[in-house]
Amino acid sequence: MIDYQPLYQALINTKAKPWVKLIPDQLEQIFSINSHGNSAKWLDIIAKLPKLKATTVNLNTGLVKIGNATDINQQTHDLLLEQLQGFHPWRKGPYNIFGIHIDTEWRSDWKWDRLEQHISPLKNRLVLDVGCGNGYHCWRMLGAGASMVVGVDPLLLNVLQFQVIRILYGEAPVYVLPIGLEQIPDSIHTFDTVFSMGVLYHRRSPIDHLLALKECMRPGGELVLETLVIEGDKGEVLIPEGRYAKMRNVWFLPSCETLLGWMRRCGFKNCRVININKTSIEEQRTTEWMQFHSLKEFLDPENLNLSCEGLPAPRRAIIIANAP
Ligand SMILES: C[S@@+](CC[C@H](N)C(=O)[O-])C[C@H]1O[C@@H](n2cnc3c(N)ncnc32)[C@H](O)[C@@H]1O
Repeated sequence: MIDYQPLYQALINTKAKPWVKLIPDQLEQIFSINSHGNSAKWLDIIAKLPKLKATTVNLNTGLVKIGNATDINQQTHDLLLEQLQGFHPWRKGPYNIFGIHIDTEWRSDWKWDRLEQHISPLKNRLVLDVGCGNGYHCWRMLGAGASMVVGVDPLLLNVLQFQVIRILYGEAPVYVLPIGLEQIPDSIHTFDTVFSMGVLYHRRSPIDHLLALKECMRPGGELVLETLVIEGDKGEVLIPEGRYAKMRNVWFLPSCETLLGWMRRCGFKNCRVININKTSIEEQRTTEWMQFHSLKEFLDPENLNLSCEGLPAPRRAIIIANAP
């Protein structure tokens, strides 16, 4: 099981103290067997994970790697494979766990490659990753030298996938907590770098999301924001009336200029777009570890520039800004 004491100790003497007091209760909810239909099954797998010792780990290449195939015998390999498959669908990665290659739906390493050269070096920084999924990028942030990485994500499967990886990795200053950004108290102003990637378009109030991110950042701290955008001028924003690329919960897709304006209005400084990328069907696809439909089925088969609803196909921008 994960020891959260180092997390509490790192934050208790900061402005995040009011949050530290809430975390034990926030954690308790994931151990309640009623929180999700599969939670009892998943928690049982976690309790039965083999106790393994990785001879090597590597967090600095696209493939987050824990241990080698030769660290475990065939029987343990077969058990671990079955246990990991019990957490299908694996969306963010890839991982290699004791020789088992988890080929996830997303090549999340490609997103990391697009931003890595543009952000302030993470060495010795306290990092918050809002909407971190199963924590793939949290591992890359740790690999980049962060002193501690705290991820938050409200989806139980994501949090438990992270727990599996974290238990197999062993002690490390990286944590994923089962909450949404809204459950972090205001005014904690603690984190040196805050990431929000793939979350803003899911929020009904993007302005409130931006303001809540600012509340987590220390003065001058860095925000790395990644979200869906449209091509267009200042003031333009797409609000899909129904689904977008089959997703039900997509609200605001601004143009980059519109988004920069929102960020400046929220008080962010030095707001700049560092990358725009149209998502490819090589980056988001069905795999053995995510067997449901993926981007190819969400696009117009006759025109890959359109979603299946006839809207502009997914295009993502990465924006960097500073807290005042
Ligand atoms: C598209 S995924 C992005 C995952 C990862 N950040 C990445 O860029 O690959 C969006 C994630 O945000 C999480 N999420 C949705 N609403 C959230 C909220 N209010 N606070 C924090 N996370 C949220 C979802 O559970 C989901 O895992």
